[in-house]
Amino acid sequence: MKIEQTLILVKPDGVSRRLVGEIISRIEAKGYVIADLKMMQADRALLERHYAEHQGKPFFEPLVEFMLSGPIVAIIAEGQRVIEGFRSLAGATDPTVAAPGTIRGDLARDQGTKVQQNLVHGSDSPESAAREIAIFFEGK
Ligand code: RTP
Ligand code: MG
Repeated sequence: MKIEQTLILVKPDGVSRRLVGEIISRIEAKGYVIADLKMMQADRALLERHYAEHQGKPFFEPLVEFMLSGPIVAIIAEGQRVIEGFRSLAGATDPTVAAPGTIRGDLARDQGTKVQQNLVHGSDSPESAAREIAIFFEGK
C-alpha cells in the first residue's frame, strides 16, 4: 500500500518570520518524511484552484491576497496517517485559540488582519491531499 502523503504549505507569514526551519523541524521531529519541497511565489490562478472550496466566502479575497503577499514553501510530507497527524501538529485555524504545543498555538497570534495569518496549510482529507499535491507538484 502506498504511504499516505499530505500537502503542507508554509504561508507567507511563516517565510517572512523566518519560521521555515522551525516548522520543518516539527514535521521531521514527529517522524514524518519530507518527500519533496520547494519555495515558490504562487500566482492567483494557482491559489484560486487550491482554495476553490472557499470561493464566495467573505475571507476568500483577503486569503488570496495574503497568499500572494510573498513566497511560500510547498512540502509533500509522508507517513502513516500524516494528513490527520499534521492537522494535529498545526492546531486550530484561529491561532488565538490553537492549543499551546501546536505550530499555530506556539508561533502565531491574531494580527488584526482580514484573514487569519496562521503560518501553515495542511490537506484535510486523502481527496484534498491528492488534488492539492497535483496542483503544487505537477506529475506527483
Ligand atoms: P488550511 O486550509 O490553511 O490548512 O486551514 P484550515 O483548514 O484550518 O482552515 P480553512 O477553513 O480551510 O480556511 C483556509 C484558511 O483561510 C483563512 N481563514 N480565515 N474567518 C477567518 O478569518 C478565516 N477563516 C479561514 C485561514 O488562513 C485558513 O487557514
Ligand atoms: Mg483547509
